[in-house]
Amino acid sequence: MKKYNHIIIGSGIAALQLASNLNKSSKVLIITKSKLNESNSYRAQGGIAAAIGNLDHPSFHYKDTLKAGCYFQNENAVMELAENGPRIIENLKGNGLTFDEDDCGNLSLGMEGAHSQNRILHCGGDATGKHIMNHLFSEIHPQIDIIENEFVFELILNSNRNRCIGIKSMDENGEVHYYSGQNIILAVGGVGGMFSYTSNEQSIAGDGIALAYRAGAEIVDMEFIQFHPTLLFVDGETKGLISEAVRGSGARLITSTGAYLMDGKHTLGDLAPRHIVAKEIFDQRAAGVDVFLDISMISEFEKKFPTVSKICLENGVAIKTGLIPVAPGCHFLMGGISVNEVGETSVNGLFAIGETASTGIHGANRLASNSLLEGLYFGEKLAMYLNKLNPPKESLSIIEKEFQMRHDLFIPNVKEVQQQMMLHAGIIRTKLDLLQIESWLNQFSEEENALDKYSKEQIQVLFMVQCAKLIVKGALLREESRGGHIREDFSSESQSWKEMHIVQSNKGIEM
Ligand code: SIN
Repeated sequence: MKKYNHIIIGSGIAALQLASNLNKSSKVLIITKSKLNESNSYRAQGGIAAAIGNLDHPSFHYKDTLKAGCYFQNENAVMELAENGPRIIENLKGNGLTFDEDDCGNLSLGMEGAHSQNRILHCGGDATGKHIMNHLFSEIHPQIDIIENEFVFELILNSNRNRCIGIKSMDENGEVHYYSGQNIILAVGGVGGMFSYTSNEQSIAGDGIALAYRAGAEIVDMEFIQFHPTLLFVDGETKGLISEAVRGSGARLITSTGAYLMDGKHTLGDLAPRHIVAKEIFDQRAAGVDVFLDISMISEFEKKFPTVSKICLENGVAIKTGLIPVAPGCHFLMGGISVNEVGETSVNGLFAIGETASTGIHGANRLASNSLLEGLYFGEKLAMYLNKLNPPKESLSIIEKEFQMRHDLFIPNVKEVQQQMMLHAGIIRTKLDLLQIESWLNQFSEEENALDKYSKEQIQVLFMVQCAKLIVKGALLREESRGGHIREDFSSESQSWKEMHIVQSNKGIEM
């Protein structure tokens, strides 16, 4: 069995930033269930927020982040992120990453929803994620081991069950592998693939949360999920993201009856916080009215938004008509694995960064383009911490168990979970809907024991069910509407819920 100092599960921006900042002398493994570049980070369009404009200041970025997140954040963490934004950008530039510039050679700073300033840096128009990720790939030390297409399905605990000491994974042939590590870091993204309408890679479907929960870690605020207002909507399906930067460049939401949707709805109009715009589109669509993005006023659209243009072209939507059909879909998990200021979970030896983790930055609703910044900042911060950490005193020996026979398992299929979640735990929730999906989910067992007797596909659905139960439980308990959690039966924010976090673990629920 191979032994590592650090095992990083996932290959998004937080994972790569961590890997590239770890001491070169440490033995590091990056393991991902798909290909290295199949991450949400790689697909990111809009950009990365940082207060670097002449009229901007980190305190403005801080205020905008708190406001968009409905003041449900860890304020110190938000301030730390906002203050470090300009430095992170300077580091990237210093290491050779080029951001887009305007005609005068100044950094081109875009606008997105709920920002009070133009502060979104971007690369290659709307291909920011791809450019940053390719840059980070080039920074990874050659001595780091990288394993693709291996699905981590268990975090191995020591005999006292109080320290994570390794992982079990399954390769494409169903063969099980063991790796031991002093520190195990989850960086596998959120839950987008659990919903039928999503901007995410389909494979990003709650693995990290389920793995951590099964290992005894605390999971927090799972009811807070962001639905992005504008996904391309063709033939009853969502087909990818239409970046908010498109509205930031002047595009407007218009209904099939010819009305500008956001007129009179919010002072920021089309650039109101995402949960507000998403709800307006959802209500129109529920009433049978289609919604489009009117892009007719944006000159050189294809040049400014090559990724969006490509997605439209691939799905038969002609940019020259000036109208892009849109619907909201799952985009980002604000809750997640509960971590302290460096990314430590409640289980020794287990860490979480990026969307999988709940750092307290995003509160009830993430501000646009804060996620790439979060991944970069917390990836770097965790590396600094791990670089100074002494190895654990106990021996981390793992006993490999024999392969067992495959068993049948009573579980739903992926599409069923996605549809149920979208319908009953999606953009607008009610107690009745949530109770309905809760009882549907409860017919499927959570399977306490070893999983290596099941196939990769079965385990993934099991993880989705596990994660769905956490989301639904949080959404049922929180009897208010705040940010991404909208309850039709409790339509406003409640002061009594303002300070309340719902923490779930395999020991029970704490609030
Ligand atoms: C977008 O480009 O609209 C998404 C950016 C983000 O979610 O931060």
